[in-house]
Amino acid sequence: MQAIHGYRETERLHWGAAAQAVLARVRAQAFAEGSQLLGPVHVLDLDESGYIKPHIDSVKFCGSTIAGLSLLSDSVMRLVRENNTADWVELLLTRRSLYILRDGARFNFTHEILKDAESSFAGQKVARQRRISVICRNLPTSSEGKGANKC
Ligand code: OGA
Ligand code: MN
Repeated sequence: MQAIHGYRETERLHWGAAAQAVLARVRAQAFAEGSQLLGPVHVLDLDESGYIKPHIDSVKFCGSTIAGLSLLSDSVMRLVRENNTADWVELLLTRRSLYILRDGARFNFTHEILKDAESSFAGQKVARQRRISVICRNLPTSSEGKGANKC
């Protein structure tokens, strides 16, 4: 995805037992029982200078909920309302935390991960090191859109 700089990524369908147990906990928190999930889990490895520019994940390929585990490094995620950029919020994603973007936060706000030089929270610098995120998504319902092939 062009929104992301300084990264490598992969998708993984099959996980070992320990990781599967973690993913099961993430899914139980994030998704309603029986909801249709995107099979492969997305793993994004940002190097210490890597960052993610503002974007909204494809509504055609991804559903109402995005759940991300942040590993290795703290980071700052900024949400900006698409039709009113004065409406924004920053979230401190501490390492090993889980965030869930759902419904309005997912559809009506862009999300971004700040680069090290811009990365601060409540007046404190948040040093960005290499950060790996593990992202679970659900599938769109038919009313949300159909047909594309990439988030
Ligand atoms: C993405 C994305 C956020 C993260 O890959 O679309 O927004 O936590 N990732 O890495
Ligand atoms: Mn995204």
